[in-house]
Amino acid sequence: MSLFARSVSTLLVLILLLPTLNNTMAEKALIGVTNNLGSRNLTVSCKIDNHPHLLGPTDYYEWKFSPEYNDEFGTEPLFSNCSFQWEGAHHSFDLYVLVRDGDCNNCSWHIKLDAACRYTGNLRFACYQWKT
Ligand SMILES: *[C@@H]1O[C@H](CO)[C@@H](O)[C@H](O)[C@H]1NC(C)=O
Ligand SMILES: *[C@@H]1O[C@H](CO)[C@@H](O)[C@H](O)[C@H]1NC(C)=O
Ligand SMILES: *[C@@H]1O[C@H](CO)[C@@H](O)[C@H](O)[C@H]1NC(C)=O
Repeated sequence: MSLFARSVSTLLVLILLLPTLNNTMAEKALIGVTNNLGSRNLTVSCKIDNHPHLLGPTDYYEWKFSPEYNDEFGTEPLFSNCSFQWEGAHHSFDLYVLVRDGDCNNCSWHIKLDAACRYTGNLRFACYQWKT
């Protein structure tokens, strides 16, 4: 196939896929982080925006994203190896893993000194140790 023909067919495929893409992208999920480190500041950074966010005590920050979009295109998971830093500590944790978090569309994480805890409703939390 010539380069031109290949470009045209790539474009066609994109045009055909676009409506489905828009549909799946409309289904947003929220990933939220609350600083529960007492009086410490928390700096959190994830691949989704590769930008450090400074959270003071009890501050909350959230990202919107499409879990479906992540899966279909097999890109680097946007919430893998997020970094969590505060004075004297630097941890890594996955804020969204499909098999573990696929059931939440508003995943609310509470960041504690020894664990990341996801609110599961009814005043319950599922806590996980830091990856590193
Ligand atoms: C937390 O961050 C704020 C804003 O940058 C700063 O004024 C404050 O001193 C920090 N607090 C601690 C405990 O590091
Ligand atoms: C996360 O970090 C670990 C350890 O540094 C690395 O082996 C892994 O490939 C990283 N995963 C992603 C999705 O970046
Ligand atoms: C998601 O959860 C956070 C923290 O629990 C809450 O403040 C926020 O209102 C929720 N957002 C939606 C859209 O439900």
